[in-house]
Amino acid sequence: MRITVLSGAGMSAESGIPTFRDALTGLWADYDPARLATPEAFEADPALVWGWYRWRAAAVARAQPNAGHLGIAALARAGHRVRVVTQNVDDLHERAGSTGVVHLHGRLLASRCFACGLRPQPDPMREGLAGLHAQAPCAPPACAACGGPLRPDVVWFGEALPEDAWRAAVEAVADCELLVVVGTSGLVYPAAALPQQARRPRTRVIAINPAAPEAPWQFDEVWRLPASEGVERLLRELA
Ligand code: OAD
Repeated sequence: MRITVLSGAGMSAESGIPTFRDALTGLWADYDPARLATPEAFEADPALVWGWYRWRAAAVARAQPNAGHLGIAALARAGHRVRVVTQNVDDLHERAGSTGVVHLHGRLLASRCFACGLRPQPDPMREGLAGLHAQAPCAPPACAACGGPLRPDVVWFGEALPEDAWRAAVEAVADCELLVVVGTSGLVYPAAALPQQARRPRTRVIAINPAAPEAPWQFDEVWRLPASEGVERLLRELA
């Protein structure tokens, strides 16, 4: 079966990675995205923003994929054609064994030059994360090519999504037989518009989320479950 998984921060919640809008644990509950997740914020205080993303990268590096990530990778091993489209910037889908993961909002464990766009190899965002437990301002390294400051290779508010990722996401949703939308509040566009681009009724659309979805009419079924339990239920159903 052709399966597309569209995941959000809730996919990684059981791995200990904070979501963005959950009342108690949401990242945006404690940190102001306008101060940390915009190009203007980076230009105003590169060290604050780089240090915050290094702290988040260190937390992701310490985290482990959960049963939800592992179950999605198992679907592909069971012979289904599985495409994973994620809003998440962590690499837990990849570390669980999924391949060809489409990152709509970029990658936390990567950087690029703020001025010329060069992606450094090896990537300093991945280096020295083991001992990093607190977020503290830290001046970003300079680009080896032009001397500009390196920035996290993520999509900030006000920035366009990577065109190739968006095209791949639209195609993955349009020609799948089953669309599984896991752990997203469905509040951030254009990603939030993807479920309604599924070709229903030929495509079955399932939401997996402990909370009620923002737009329930987008789904054929809403499984009020955490990602790990929802994906395990899907594995049993498709076995
Ligand atoms: P949100 O924090 O907006 O929503 C997280 C969703 O996960 C909520 O609907 C929760 O109910 C659900 N959830 C919580 N725990 C869960 C669990 N164990 N299993 C399944 N679901 C669970 O995160 P996103 O929808 O991913 O954008 O946010 C979308 C975008 O907004 C992010 O990619 C980021 C943010 O600003 C950028 O950084 C550009």
